[in-house]
Amino acid sequence: MFDNYARNINYLRVSVTNRCNLRCKYCMPEEGVEDHGHDGILRFEEIEHLVRVATQIGVRKVRLTGGEPLVCKNITNLIADIARIPQIDDIAMTTNGILFADMADELRRAGLNRVNFSLDSLNQETFRYITSRGDINRVFRSIDKALDMGMAPIKINTVVMKGINDNEIIDFVKMTKTMPLHVRFIEFMPIGDLPFFKTDQVFTETEIKKTIEQKYELHNAAMVSGNGPARYFAIKDGIGTVGFISAMSNHFCGQCNRIRLTADGKLRSCLFGKQEINLKLALHNRVNDDKLAEMFCKAIREKPNRHHMDEGWGADNRRKMYQIGG
Ligand code: GTP
Ligand code: 5AD
Ligand code: SF4
Repeated sequence: MFDNYARNINYLRVSVTNRCNLRCKYCMPEEGVEDHGHDGILRFEEIEHLVRVATQIGVRKVRLTGGEPLVCKNITNLIADIARIPQIDDIAMTTNGILFADMADELRRAGLNRVNFSLDSLNQETFRYITSRGDINRVFRSIDKALDMGMAPIKINTVVMKGINDNEIIDFVKMTKTMPLHVRFIEFMPIGDLPFFKTDQVFTETEIKKTIEQKYELHNAAMVSGNGPARYFAIKDGIGTVGFISAMSNHFCGQCNRIRLTADGKLRSCLFGKQEINLKLALHNRVNDDKLAEMFCKAIREKPNRHHMDEGWGADNRRKMYQIGG
């Protein structure tokens, strides 16, 4: 379905849980998250039902996010259920990679096409500082496993924060020389009103590029398959690519193709928007599929043309990243 700004909305991001086994300082408070209990979170059958309805209005691509999707018991069952929906042609996941290696085979068997890993540092201590608890070796093992399985494309999401990991930009770029990895540098976004976020920590695409170009020339790269907002470049002889997701300095709202379903069953038309439609409640009230489809249409009709973070909007957005799923 096209929205009011001629954008084709065909990508649904589904947050399957607000829980996570890490505590990235920009995402989640150290004490963890509110417990919605079983009744407050969409059940897998409900997610599958809503994805099926979403296909009626043109959704073809689904990404499972969190929190951390792999902390959900039996997540492979959900993937298998979604994979059985004939209109869905891409099922992907964004994970922190802590649990992926051990589950990779069953995930793929269930129908997972591809995976994006969040990894902000290649250094054990910095990684532990950012995540408050993670063992980086588990993430490396997961990336190796995905490479061994020939999953493609494999993307690495790296949120760049001034004074924290900006000194590792070149190390990340180096990985793309020898491995078919697509490293995407993400501008730090002021979302969720966490005390960790300071505007002077944002390292913009221009600054990241300048840092890279001190060592490597960047060439435009062919598009890497995917549905997201990254723009891709490559270094000479690199077999991977270097991408940029620059919501702050160069927003990509004009090409936005997505809507989001939160773990507690709210449909959001924009990562930063205020609008939420309570689909969990609608399911509870046994609203029929035509009416559910109409609720999807309403979200798309009311999708804002762009975000306004640069006008101090972020601080107003009380929903944290783990509650929306990125
Ligand atoms: P591909 O299909 O592989 O291109 O995935 P993707 O880039 O859509 O998904 P991923 O979950 O890996 O997202 C990467 C980063 O982009 C995360 O930091 C997201 O928060 C950010 N992102 C994704 N969608 C949006 C969006 O609509 N707006 C903004 N501002 N950021 C987004
Ligand atoms: N700014 C930018 N990216 C973020 N992510 C989480 N919080 C933020 C933020 N404040 C990223 C994670 C993950 C993806 C789902 O969202 O690193 O890669
Ligand atoms: Fe967990 Fe991802 Fe949030 Fe980090 S960014 S705490 S890995 S949900």
